[in-house]
Amino acid sequence: MPSIAFSTIKGGVGKTTLCAHVAAALADAGHRVLLLDLDPQAHASLVLGLESREGPCVADALGARPARRMDDVVVVSPKRPGLFIAPGAPRMATQERELFQWGHRLQAIPRALKTLSWTPDVVLMDTPPSIGAFTEAVLSYADLVVAPVPTGAFALQGLGEIESAWRGIREQGGELVAAINLWDRRTTATNDAMDEALKDSTVPVLRTRIPRSESINQAGLGYEVVFDTSPAAPGVQELRALAQELARRAGVR
Ligand SMILES: Nc1ncnc2c1ncn2[C@@H]1O[C@H](COP(=O)(O)OP(=O)(O)OP(=O)(O)O)[C@@H](O)[C@H]1O
Ligand SMILES: [Mg+2]
Repeated sequence: MPSIAFSTIKGGVGKTTLCAHVAAALADAGHRVLLLDLDPQAHASLVLGLESREGPCVADALGARPARRMDDVVVVSPKRPGLFIAPGAPRMATQERELFQWGHRLQAIPRALKTLSWTPDVVLMDTPPSIGAFTEAVLSYADLVVAPVPTGAFALQGLGEIESAWRGIREQGGELVAAINLWDRRTTATNDAMDEALKDSTVPVLRTRIPRSESINQAGLGYEVVFDTSPAAPGVQELRALAQELARRAGVR
């Protein structure tokens, strides 16, 4: 079961936007997608149609003696029949501290997935912008970790940090890749400087670049999927192309 995570220590770079749209695009392409929303901010859950709720959340299925099986946590996205979500919730901030006490915490995700009675075609994971117990568990498990890199000053700073965290945690296999987000082809000098810096990085860069798009931003502000609000907007094609590129890379069938 291939798995793809979206992670950086830098905040606001597009982890949730890319994760939620790749999830929707792969569901639209006919895949059965499971999204684990491991960010207490729960923005991916909101974008995919789950109101902030008191109900079960993904962290209830993690840990030494989990309160719930994954089967009892996962719900169908009201926006996509083929998209299943283990939702995030604000109370997960406390649960993350508890998970940190557990000696097997790096195994938290594969252990939880064993309590799911069906096999998704792909597991996607969104993470908070920090290296806590959730992010560590994700970096340890994911076959493919995608670090969104925004165009602009300090863009590459976060990449080095996530790379060393990933190398320290992931024992074998797996791949870390950079996805350029908020791309603006008019800022040619900035883009050249970024290309130059990325050439020296040991992290491969995905072919698809996601442009800065007002429609993507507006959709995000309204907790919507841009495919539904502005299906012909700039950036839509690129988000779907990103989903295809990642699916190929992770071996989704
Ligand atoms: N390509 C894009 N074009 C326009 N706006 C974008 C794009 N990507 C992301 N945004 C906007 O940037 C903001 C931050 O994006 P997002 O929430 O996905 O980042 P994040 O890395 O998940 O943040 P956090 O670290 O807080 O979890 C949001 O308002 C989102 O709508
Ligand atoms: Mg986020």
